[in-house]
Amino acid sequence: MEDLIERAARDLVNSRYAIALTGAGMSTESGIPDFRGPSGVWTKDPDAEKRAYQTYHTFLANPKDYWEERLSGPSLLGDLEAIKPNPGHYALAELENEGIVKTVITQNVDNLHQRAGTKNVLDYHGNAFKLRCAQCNARFDSKEYELPKLREEGELPPLCRKCGGILKADIVHFREPIPSDVAQQSLEEAWKCDLMLICGTSAVVYPFAELPRLARQRKVEKESRTEAGLYAVGESPAVTIIELNAEPTPLTEDGISDYLIQGKTGQMLPKMVEALKGIRR
Ligand code: APR
Repeated sequence: MEDLIERAARDLVNSRYAIALTGAGMSTESGIPDFRGPSGVWTKDPDAEKRAYQTYHTFLANPKDYWEERLSGPSLLGDLEAIKPNPGHYALAELENEGIVKTVITQNVDNLHQRAGTKNVLDYHGNAFKLRCAQCNARFDSKEYELPKLREEGELPPLCRKCGGILKADIVHFREPIPSDVAQQSLEEAWKCDLMLICGTSAVVYPFAELPRLARQRKVEKESRTEAGLYAVGESPAVTIIELNAEPTPLTEDGISDYLIQGKTGQMLPKMVEALKGIRR
């Protein structure tokens, strides 16, 4: 594994536009369960997963019921306010600081990348600390709305202060479209990058899992200059795809990734930063 970490550090140093894609595996060392790992939320409670497939439908059908449900019980992921970033989150923030990682696209709703200091984060599946207008896509910090008080006063659902539309949690539920702004920015990053560091995801949930496949199969339609260089028509801009995960994924099996470093992100990423600094010295 040490060789692969050294290799990844070298690939990062040689990259011109590296991005990171992350999933629930990034946060298990912070105490948040993942979904499909051995002690994952869905693995342990398949009925909870079935119920989760109904949530967006409930919002569309009856937003008041949707909010009553959300405010009546604890989050599936536990108390996200009390949970802290782990060394893996800090290592990615350091790679951004070093000017290596340009963007982190995360499936996690836990806000831990931002709390670790990463500035350029795309919350692909939303953020648990925000609300989003279903009409104009405006986002608000949840704290701006006293939801328990609105509930007591029978004033649910909360309404958008910009357009008066109905607010939902910013979290993207199963069967809900990815918000267009985040979807577009993520596609542009997958198009621009020459290195993708994929950390702690089973890569089975779409459309997120499409991003590495798109980067691997992209073809230049017209001569274009990107941050990663100048490409001729039909050329495939080179991309290095590295997986850091506790187990192989369909990206490994389908040969989409160049190599898998098998282990814990909270242990491997800090080692990668050290190796990278060693190379740069
Ligand atoms: N380090 C590295 N890998 C880990 C670690 C760790 N500390 N802990 C768990 N893993 C691996 C697991 O082995 C698994 O392969 O991370 C992966 C987590 O996969 P999932 O549980 O499927 O989580 P994720 O890929 O983020 O799920 C995607 O599915 O349920 C929805 O919306 C939810 O965003 C989520 C999406």
